[in-house]
Amino acid sequence: MAKTRAKTKRGAVKRAASKRTPLKRSTKSSARTRSRKRQTPKSKSGKTAKLRSKRRSHSSKSTLASAAGAVGRAIGRTVAIVTERTSWGTGGRVDAIELLESDHRRLEELLKKGEETTARAVKGRTELLDTLTIELNAHELIEEKILYPALKPHAEAKDIVLEGYQEHHVADVLVKELHGMARSDERWGPKLKVLKESIEHHIGEEEGEMFRAARSVLSRAELEELGARMEAMKADALRRA
Ligand SMILES: [Fe+2]
Ligand SMILES: [Fe+2]
Repeated sequence: MAKTRAKTKRGAVKRAASKRTPLKRSTKSSARTRSRKRQTPKSKSGKTAKLRSKRRSHSSKSTLASAAGAVGRAIGRTVAIVTERTSWGTGGRVDAIELLESDHRRLEELLKKGEETTARAVKGRTELLDTLTIELNAHELIEEKILYPALKPHAEAKDIVLEGYQEHHVADVLVKELHGMARSDERWGPKLKVLKESIEHHIGEEEGEMFRAARSVLSRAELEELGARMEAMKADALRRA
């Protein structure tokens, strides 16, 4: 009797289990269906959203592209203007006088800075003197090796060219003395001031009488040819310094 009851119980459990299984499946399947039903409109709107997002991204890409194009064109224009005005962009067509005048402005700037230093600015004075020496040497070199020899044969330029050599010599002597003197020495500042005044006087004569003579005796093409040679020689001198 107990066995029969046990069997009956096991059978009932099995039946219940077999009944539960399909029920579970159908629940899952209907859940999936419901989920699909719910997803369908969503996926449609998802597609639309994707399309919109694609269009937006495309349009922002085009905006970026056109902005980049505008920036590129602006940079191109700036480079074109700069290259028109600077020697390095003219493919060697550099005017010798413009190059030297640009050097003069730089030397004036360095001398002014030097004059503003005090005896306490030992390191600053040394750095400034080193820079001034390198740039002054390169400048004198291109004048003495290229411009002065081109001008000297012309009667209207000869005297000022000869004077130019001597003024370079005076500047070199003063620079050498400045190097040999303690930066804290009370004579260092006044000596640099004398150097400044001497170079300013020399620049005045070059930009006045000498360059006027150069423009009258040399053609534009000759000045450009001298300029190209000067530029190359100066770059080489600065590299070696
Ligand atoms: Fe000079
Ligand atoms: Fe000069």
